[in-house]
Amino acid sequence: MSPAPALRAAAEADIPAVLAFWKLAAEDTNRAGDDAAAVAALLGRDPGALILAVDGELIVGSVVAGFDGWRCHLYRFAVHPGRRREGIGRRLLDAAERRFRALGGRRADAMVLEDNALAHPAWAAAGYERQPAWRRWVKRL
Ligand SMILES: CC(C)(COP(=O)(O)OP(=O)(O)OC[C@H]1O[C@@H](n2cnc3c(N)ncnc32)[C@H](O)[C@@H]1OP(=O)(O)O)[C@@H](O)C(=O)NCCC(=O)NCCS
Repeated sequence: MSPAPALRAAAEADIPAVLAFWKLAAEDTNRAGDDAAAVAALLGRDPGALILAVDGELIVGSVVAGFDGWRCHLYRFAVHPGRRREGIGRRLLDAAERRFRALGGRRADAMVLEDNALAHPAWAAAGYERQPAWRRWVKRL
């Protein structure tokens, strides 16, 4: 097994590599498409929200731990296909939850596709419970 990757906050210089990593590793069903401006806006508004797992120069995992002062949302949770089941995902969620707690957050949540068979056990293993009563309502701006 490769050495455990380091976790760190993403910086603007990481944006091209982050977008390439998401193309390779992230769940992309029904997404509008991420772009550099959107990631730069996230880093500008909430520096530290995008947490990366890095093996040297290579990004091997990511999660967005976004706190808006009210809710703690997790997005773009992904691990490199060649590095799954090494505990990287669990470490990313631990780091995200530490960030939320430090900011005063009380409950973390994630939007997870019903048929995402990779995601469900990972969220469950980290202590997340599915809430069947809710549906997401959206409107494009
Ligand atoms: C979901 C994902 C991020 C998990 O990352 P990971 O680094 O492989 O997860 P971990 O190794 O930390 O797994 C932690 C625990 O979750 C559970 N788990 C994770 N993946 C699993 C799988 N494919 N099957 C069964 N259990 C799994 C296990 O309990 C595991 O602990 P164990 O390996 O000691 O048994 C990864 O599968 C991924 O990138 N999937 C594609 C993108 C995606 O769908 N992201 C989620 C969007 S909501």
